[in-house]
Amino acid sequence: MNPKHPSESLTVLTDLVLPSETNHLNNLFGGELLARMDRAASISAQRHSRNVTVTASVNHVAFSRPIPLGSVVTIEAKVSRAFTTSMEIFIDVWVEDRELGTRSKANEAIYSFVAVDANGQPVQVPPIVPETELEKQRFDAALRRKQLSLLLAGKMKPADATELRALFVE
Ligand SMILES: CC(C)(COP(=O)(O)OP(=O)(O)OC[C@H]1O[C@@H](n2cnc3c(N)ncnc32)[C@H](O)[C@@H]1OP(=O)(O)O)[C@@H](O)C(=O)NCCC(=O)NCCS
Repeated sequence: MNPKHPSESLTVLTDLVLPSETNHLNNLFGGELLARMDRAASISAQRHSRNVTVTASVNHVAFSRPIPLGSVVTIEAKVSRAFTTSMEIFIDVWVEDRELGTRSKANEAIYSFVAVDANGQPVQVPPIVPETELEKQRFDAALRRKQLSLLLAGKMKPADATELRALFVE
C-alpha cells in the first residue's frame, strides 16, 4: 500500500452551538461535542483508509474551556498515525470570536478507529508519513498512547508495552 500524509485525511467541521445542545450553564454539552468529534474522526479515518471504519476507543479528551451558546465551533481531525488495521485520529477544537474573527483552541481529543470489511473484520490500512513538526510529534507519541489504550482495555500485558514503560524508567 502506498503511504499517505496526514493532510490527506484532514476533516474540518464547522457548526453553531444551538440551545438544544447546551447544558444548564448554556455551554455546549460534553456528549454533543464527543459526537461531533466522533463524526469528524470517522470521516478522517475513512479518508485515510478508503474503507468503512469503526470507533475502537476514545483515548483522551480534554474539555479545557467551556463553549458558550451561539459559538461557531470548528473541529479539525487528522490521522496522526496508522498501524496495521487501526489509526489514531487527533482532533483539535477551535472557537471563533464573532467580532474579531480570530479563533482560539477550546478542546482536543484522540480517538482510535479500525478499518473493517463488510463482516466487521479488521483490514489493513495504508502507512502514514508525517510532514510538519506537529505531525511528527503526534506520530512519535501515538505508539505509547496505543499501548496505554490496549493496557486499559485488558488487551495488552504491561510487560509488552515496551515504549510506554520506557517513559517511566528513563
Ligand atoms: C474495534 C474492533 C473492530 C476491534 O476488533 P478486535 O477483534 O479487537 O480486533 P483486533 O484485536 O485484531 O484489533 C484490531 C486493531 O484494533 C486495535 N484495537 C483494538 N482495541 C483497541 C483499543 N481499545 N484501543 C486502541 N486500539 C485498539 C488493535 O490494536 C488492532 O490494531 P492494529 O491492527 O493496527 O495493530 C471491534 O472491537 C469492534 O468491532 N468494536 C465495536 C466498534 C464499534 O461498534 N464502535 C462504535 C461504538 S458505538
